[in-house]
Amino acid sequence: MDLKVDIARCSAELDRLAQFSDVPAPAVQRIVFTETDLAARAYLVGLFEEAGLKVRHDTVGNIFARWEGTDPTLPPVATGSHTDAIPYSGKYDGTVGVLGGLEAIRTLQRAMRAAGFTPAVPRRSIELVMFTSEEPTRFAYGCLGSRLLSGQLPPDAAAKLTDADGQNLDNVRQSAGFTGPLADVKLQPGHYSAFAELHIEQGPLLERANLDIGAVTAIAAPAALRVRYTGPGGHAGGVMMADRRDPLLAASRLALEVDAAARESGSPDTVGTVGVLDVHPRAVNSIPRDVLLEIDVRDIDGPRRDRVLERIKQKAKQFGDELGVPTTIEMINADPPATSDPAIVAAIEQSCVDAKLTHQRMVSRAYHDSLFMSLVCPIAMIFIPCRDGMSHRPEEYSSPAAIRAGIEVLARTLYQLAQ
Ligand code: GLV
Ligand code: MN
Ligand code: MN
Ligand code: MN
Repeated sequence: MDLKVDIARCSAELDRLAQFSDVPAPAVQRIVFTETDLAARAYLVGLFEEAGLKVRHDTVGNIFARWEGTDPTLPPVATGSHTDAIPYSGKYDGTVGVLGGLEAIRTLQRAMRAAGFTPAVPRRSIELVMFTSEEPTRFAYGCLGSRLLSGQLPPDAAAKLTDADGQNLDNVRQSAGFTGPLADVKLQPGHYSAFAELHIEQGPLLERANLDIGAVTAIAAPAALRVRYTGPGGHAGGVMMADRRDPLLAASRLALEVDAAARESGSPDTVGTVGVLDVHPRAVNSIPRDVLLEIDVRDIDGPRRDRVLERIKQKAKQFGDELGVPTTIEMINADPPATSDPAIVAAIEQSCVDAKLTHQRMVSRAYHDSLFMSLVCPIAMIFIPCRDGMSHRPEEYSSPAAIRAGIEVLARTLYQLAQ
């Protein structure tokens, strides 16, 4: 089939979506269930409907847009990603998998019409999914929507998750218009026959190797923990050094320890980051009283990641004890890695050959909704290069040519899986 991706239209839609943001361009910030997120969702639903897709949403706000196939009794093939964006990030993370997924469907619609198919639809339905809150920004859990779809997060626990303002997920999602029991989100086994997600690489390897496409064979295991140190606080002038118990000193030692623990794991595949360090009351003339760290640790090897987590937890307690500041340690999540389905990886590779694009197999170091979709159905991912491997920052960029290539490979892969 001759596939003509309308990359000009898709690029314009990516630009438009980036305007739904709480911070000035080129940075993007779109936090789940804010006014901005809801406006972006309305824009996307309009595009899905314009393409003739049947749109529905579930009770946590995952959006499903279905292109009905000739045999609606067969489990559909699914694609999709997320459109929430972390603070001061860029405009391609996740969005390429949603708007690119839409363009892949539109491209197939045009090609099948042009080729004279009647009806001009595939055998299996193809469903585009926009997952709620792949990013952990608001409720601390990444992949919130796909966790619930996979049954990995109990609905009762999800309902009680709170944001920084103390609002719980259950109230927030209902105020956003997503009502009904959260238990309804979980998918039944066999709901989808396959899931393929298009995403920017978020690393430099494809660009360095001058390759068009990465066929993702595995997704690294993510984990996050929260450590809180508390002290008496006090006046920065009045309290003598000998009399202090400063929780920020324990937190500072712990930040260095996270870095050392990841570097000394024995593998360059281990990474550790302190991405959140909140100091209360945050006044220059006040000794910190309440210090919170959120720590991200990942590895493609689950047990090695867990050994690093153990070291961090043990040191977190030790530093608190040594400084005389009470310590609380809370594991947020520690998820296993995911493996792609060899048949879908093979379909992606065949699509690259058919589209005359170069490719390599690779692992994903970032996590994605595919991590949890792997518990529901066979998955694989299609990576495209991004400039200097940059992501989670405003400079994030993938060229229209790179996105076009990704969409063509996605379209060909979906077609193979759906026929
Ligand atoms: C999510 O975007 C992650 O990989 O951190
Ligand atoms: Mn991200
Ligand atoms: Mn993403
Ligand atoms: Mn991600």
